[in-house]
Parts: sequence; C-alpha cells; structure tokens
Amino acid sequence: MQSIADFAEQLAREAGDLIRHERENSPLRTGYKDQTELVTHADLMADKLITEAIHSRFPAHRILSEESRPDKSQAADLDSPLWIIDPIDGTVNYAYGHPQVAISIAYAERGNVQVGVVHAPFASETFRAVRGKRATLNGEPIHHSGATVPRDSLFATGFPYTKDKLAPLLKRLDVMIHHCRDLRRVGSAALDICWVACGRLDAYYESVSPWDFAAGRLIALEAGASAGHFTEVPEGYPEDLWGQDILISAPGIYDSVRGLLKGAN
Ligand code: IPD
Ligand code: CA
Ligand code: CA
Repeated sequence: MQSIADFAEQLAREAGDLIRHERENSPLRTGYKDQTELVTHADLMADKLITEAIHSRFPAHRILSEESRPDKSQAADLDSPLWIIDPIDGTVNYAYGHPQVAISIAYAERGNVQVGVVHAPFASETFRAVRGKRATLNGEPIHHSGATVPRDSLFATGFPYTKDKLAPLLKRLDVMIHHCRDLRRVGSAALDICWVACGRLDAYYESVSPWDFAAGRLIALEAGASAGHFTEVPEGYPEDLWGQDILISAPGIYDSVRGLLKGAN
C-alpha cells in the first residue's frame, strides 16, 4: 500500500502545482453544473491530470471522480479497486482566492478505504494515511485534539449549494452552536476532516459525496479520531463511502455530539 500512497501523493502534489499555477497566472474561467454548483477550468484540468495518470498505471481499477466520472453507484460495487477523487475540494474558496483548498485522493478495496491523501497546495500541507499505519502531516505523525466536552469544542460543518433543504441543517446548527464553543466554516470538507485529525478542530459533521470525505476519514481514523454516522447506513453499503450524516470527532466527545445531532433530527 505504501507505493499506492506514494503514487497518490505524487498525483495530488502535481495537481496542486497545476491549480496553484492556474490561479496565479491565468484568468479564472468559471461555469456552473446542476444550475448552482460552481466549477472552474482548474477543477477540470486537475481531474484530467489525476484520472488519466491512474488509468494509465492501473487500467483495471475503477475511478470515481467528481468532474469526469461522478457515477456514485460505483461506491457500492465492490468488484475491483476504486479510486475516489476530488480534484479541488473548496472550489468556492479557490475562486475567491482563499487558501483552504485541497486535492483529495482515496484508494479503496472492497469498499474499504486503504489509502488517503489530502494535499493543500496553498498551505503546502499534505495529510496522508495508509490503513493501520497511522496518519501524518508533511511526514510528521498527527493526533486528534483530545477534546472531552462539547462545550469546549470547536466544530465545523458545511451547507449544500442548493437552498431547498436547509431547514433541518439549520436546526442542527442551532443545537450545536448552543452546546459547543464555536463554529468554523472552512469551505473544504476534506480539510475540515484533516483538521479534526490534527487537532485544529474537535468535530465535523455534514452530508457530502464520497470524494469529499473518503481520504480524510481514513486520515482522521488513523490519527485516533472517531468516525461514523448519526443516522443509519443502508444495510450492505460500505460505511467508508456513505456520505449521509457523517460525524468525525475526537473520541472523547463523539457520543455526546452524536446524541446532540440525533436529537436535532
Ligand atoms: C464542497 C466543500 C464544502 C462542502 C460542500 C462540498 P467542492 O466541495 O467540501 O466544504 O460544504 O458540501 O460540495 O464543491 O468545493 O468540491
Ligand atoms: Ca468537494
Ligand atoms: Ca470539487
């Protein structure tokens, strides 16, 4: 698995150099998918770079990638290895010149994520984990915050681009903000999760797509954090790839935060 991880890291770094170069040197070209979701020319370029390199090295592997191969039904198909890619997580940040932007690459076998790399090119930070081998940030071991009380905890979450199903999310937010220290809206789910992994945040919850969280979730678990869901995962679906109502936090607050979120449903 280390050579898969090395390859994933190399691709994430190359894509990181590309998107940084594009933001610094080319006018931003943007469009929309599904009417509301921003996509930049750099998302498409990074997606192409990563998916073509994986396909040429591992032609028998499947690829789930946000821009070029977004068929999420692949996550439940366990037949052959699956790569799960978000070429830019934090596209809105990218377009607004914010630094919280990441390339996320995960590698799974039979629905179990084995390798995760999240590379933040503007911060020059690379989070990485291989299952069972601990998590690192720029090569140094990382660990969750050790938080024990929700009231002293900093949490992150996010909101979908569509505005039609916000009411239950605002109800959850209301409960969380009343019971925790404060909220950070980082704008990249992959980084939210890696920040839980390295103790910059105590908890993160949201409903997201596999490419947003697959790599980060392994990194958080390998940093000793707890990860799960506050609603049921459908029977037989790989938990590592089910993005509905995920919660990732320091272990000492996991049960109490899960209780808060369940109670707000
Ligand atoms: C988004 C970010 C954001 C989360 C959204 C995602 P994108 O990904 O991770 O933090 O709240 O749900 O869609 O669109 O920047 O790749
Ligand atoms: Ca994303
Ligand atoms: Ca994206």
